[in-house]
Amino acid sequence: METSDQAIELAEIGADAVAAIAGLHAACFDTPWPADDLHALFKANPLWALGAADCAWRTGRELQGAVIVRHVLDEAEILTLGVRPRCRRRGIARALIRAMQERLRGQGGGRLFLDVAADNSPARALYDDLGFRLLDVRKGYYGRPGGRSADAHVLSWEAADII
Ligand SMILES: CC(C)(COP(=O)(O)OP(=O)(O)OC[C@H]1O[C@@H](n2cnc3c(N)ncnc32)[C@H](O)[C@@H]1OP(=O)(O)O)[C@@H](O)C(=O)NCCC(=O)NCCS
Repeated sequence: METSDQAIELAEIGADAVAAIAGLHAACFDTPWPADDLHALFKANPLWALGAADCAWRTGRELQGAVIVRHVLDEAEILTLGVRPRCRRRGIARALIRAMQERLRGQGGGRLFLDVAADNSPARALYDDLGFRLLDVRKGYYGRPGGRSADAHVLSWEAADII
């Protein structure tokens, strides 16, 4: 699959890619997501999952970015999105989310939503850019070192929205 507006290759990923996804996750987030837990997630849920660049998990090279979405009827929740630090600001995340938006449109409509930390400026800017709207604020939802916390922003995008 190649997105319409950028030369970034995206491909479906599944339970056979959990080791590569766990490695990518470790490069993107402080909290690990073990491959076994990812495997169970793939087995137990209806997921759309896309990886970016080179079909890396098949050739032993690194997965550069990925998104995993759980969908039920016309509701789709972004469970995780990450792009390897050295691959950022090349439009990979935008391509991954746009592909999910196009998928929802392709099935006749629906809503894409997620939680993101209010202080995650790159991700907030990305979702603003892609037409997501603030639905709710969960006060102090994310724990931070030193007993601090950050609010969660619940964001939503409707397939009928213009982006
Ligand atoms: C957030 C994240 C996925 C963005 O990935 P990316 O591939 O670098 O994003 P893109 O290159 O597609 O950026 C698209 C737009 O998002 C916004 N954006 C992305 N990173 C940004 C940053 N560091 N600062 C400001 N805006 C940013 C910009 O509007 C950007 O468009 P532009 O480059 O034309 O200005 C990446 O920084 C990441 O993996 N972070 C750690 C994990 C994480 O926070 N995941 C999201 C959890 S909900």
